[in-house]
Amino acid sequence: MSNAKRVLLIVSGGIAAYKSLEVIRRLRERGIAVRCILTAGGAQFVTPLSLSAISGDKVYGELFSLTDEAEMGHIQLSRDADLLLVAPATADILARMTQGLANDLATTALLATDKPVMVAPSMNVRMWTHPATQANLASLKARGTLFVGPNEGDMACGEYGPGRLAEPEEIVTAVERFFQSGSRLEGLRALVTSGPTHEAIDPVRYIANRSSGKQGHAIAQALADLGADTTLVSGPTSLPDPERVRVKHVRSAEEMLAACLDSLPSDVAVCAAAVADWKVAAAANQKLKKGDEGPPSLTLTANPDILARLAEPGAQRPRLVIGFAAETEKVIEHATAKRQRKGCDWILANDVSAESGTFGGDDNSIHLISADANESWPRMSKRQVAACLAERVATHFESRRA
Ligand code: PMT
Repeated sequence: MSNAKRVLLIVSGGIAAYKSLEVIRRLRERGIAVRCILTAGGAQFVTPLSLSAISGDKVYGELFSLTDEAEMGHIQLSRDADLLLVAPATADILARMTQGLANDLATTALLATDKPVMVAPSMNVRMWTHPATQANLASLKARGTLFVGPNEGDMACGEYGPGRLAEPEEIVTAVERFFQSGSRLEGLRALVTSGPTHEAIDPVRYIANRSSGKQGHAIAQALADLGADTTLVSGPTSLPDPERVRVKHVRSAEEMLAACLDSLPSDVAVCAAAVADWKVAAAANQKLKKGDEGPPSLTLTANPDILARLAEPGAQRPRLVIGFAAETEKVIEHATAKRQRKGCDWILANDVSAESGTFGGDDNSIHLISADANESWPRMSKRQVAACLAERVATHFESRRA
């Protein structure tokens, strides 16, 4: 299978659409394959024939095209790509992306993808600075969408200001940089825990918690995206397995510990799982019956602490051990004490009070505590938290290599 990177380029309607031809040419010069979706608006400025001639591939445009769907479904279009690039991106497509609309092939592919998305906006200065567009920009950024440009300058409409499409070379450089960042953790092994654990009461009942696994899975994906050889040990979740990640599915804390120890050695371990602190001392082998004696009383006993175990000094200790601290009050104070107690290098404190929506939600507010850092990150999507953490991990190992 070829290792060539593949970009799905979405060309939306704008006077700068002609520049997409140059973007395709330069991407292909660098060995990056390009397949195009042309929106109805885009087709007013550039023809499918010219895009097809330059990209060397068929151009897609119709959501409800029988032939296109038979050859290449809209889901397959994004599945086949390593990056979705929207260039130029109009104010309209940004708004539709923010809303999660799927009313043409381009927005359907964007909604259906789990691949990174890069956007090169292009529009009139007043459309760009309008609070609606700026709010859309902020929420797309919070979801992890990458942006290149827009630039400031003279516009086709005769006005001056920000809104000009970034130059093709800038867009191509941003794409190249994005692909190169995929090797920053190459040669390193990462172990991530995610999700809740289920502690059996009897064969059909268990004790669990509200963790969805979104944060841990996103971290595994972000580390793998930077090239780490990644193992994810996941408790029961409804999430699909991250791509290019070895996944070990477990139920209980005991199983999670065994799977983690079995995954060593590792250079970095990130414990994002919400592991049950206690399990039922003697889980019943048969389903407990509702008898005359009333509800059963359950005796709990402590579960192993996976993070503390991984952080124990020894030959197998990962060089960087990162824990989470799920707190509902005195977040920083409790997390600082937890880092010391568990012996991990960094701890990511998050507020999990009911009103925070952290458990199960899409966003998180992180406070990173290490021996030499104590910093609050702005509230962002869990994917973005994962990307920031992966960046920090890469910088940590790079500074040690230097
Ligand atoms: O899954 P999501 O819905 O996306 O939510 C994300 C999250 C809130 C679960 C995640 O961001 C998070 O905070 N994970 C840690 C949850 C937790 O169990 O926190 P804690 O403060 O109880 O534990 C501290 C650390 O010890 C954690 O790294 C935990 O993985 C680890 N631990 C705890 C108990 C135990 N028996 N073994 C452990 O390894």
